Amino acid sequence: QPMRADEPTQYSQLRQCWEIPRKDIRQSELLARGVFVEVWKGRIKKFPDRDEVIRVAIKKLLPEATEKGRKFFLAEMEVTKVLQANINVIQLIGCYTLHEPWLLMLEYASEGTLYSFLQRCQPGAQRVEITTSSSKSSARLKNHKVDAHKMLAMSAQIVNGLQHISKFKLVCYRLRSASVLVGKGAVCKLTGFGFPQDVTERNQYEADSLPIRWMAPESLSHNMYSTQSDTWSLGVVMWEILHFGATPYPAFGQDELPDKVIDGYRLPAPPHCSDELYGIISKCWSALPENRPDYDTIMTELTNLALEDS
Ligand code: ADE
Repeated sequence: QPMRADEPTQYSQLRQCWEIPRKDIRQSELLARGVFVEVWKGRIKKFPDRDEVIRVAIKKLLPEATEKGRKFFLAEMEVTKVLQANINVIQLIGCYTLHEPWLLMLEYASEGTLYSFLQRCQPGAQRVEITTSSSKSSARLKNHKVDAHKMLAMSAQIVNGLQHISKFKLVCYRLRSASVLVGKGAVCKLTGFGFPQDVTERNQYEADSLPIRWMAPESLSHNMYSTQSDTWSLGVVMWEILHFGATPYPAFGQDELPDKVIDGYRLPAPPHCSDELYGIISKCWSALPENRPDYDTIMTELTNLALEDS
């Protein structure tokens, strides 16, 4: 469809190739609810002319969403479209925007959030079953232990996803283990991205509470968000992984924590965490954003640790 230079591009023109007919989309159960969206488990037809279906997560804009909520929904859709082809970033499969309610169809993460996954992996908890993505017969690896090696691998996957989004100057919105998803084979996948300059407005909109335990000092004090503030949150997520999803800074309340962190208090090393690994994590918590390591450096150091271990 030719677009005239003097005419602004309409969303419908941009979205055309992503549109899925409404009759091919089925929602089944509610997974989560936010201020302006619901997330449903669902399925869509894989091809227009065949019966084959694929499982998806459906993000639905609520009718009561305000103009701002609608703006954030569309921004998320546009951003997710460009973040294609990375195994550690939840992929957009399609959208439905011809009529309201608008829907985003996203890759479905079968193991739920990283937070719940880690809880299930706690020593003493019932062992998780991890489905192997490569196995055609959907065989399950029973009694799978999350060991130090697996923890390094999950951390490296999150770094890989963050590296991908940082190339587009995007940040991960509210990065914490409860916002990271886990797919088949225990592969970590990031979701919820935005422009750093929009994070403050979106946090205010979704007012309930800020994820202060994951926030960098400059975010707490000056509402500043960047790739480097994501690196800080990554450090806290790695700490959570090593602690099987424990709450960071358990001894501090929400009100007293910001001043502690701004004054230089840091999370202690997790049990059984090597000095080298705690060294990498600690560098993510450098007071000055520019002193935090970039993702290439973190990836190299994690890889070296994994190789030494094996
Ligand atoms: N909850 C939110 N988004 C999800 C997704 N993509 N897969 C599974 N559960 C989810």
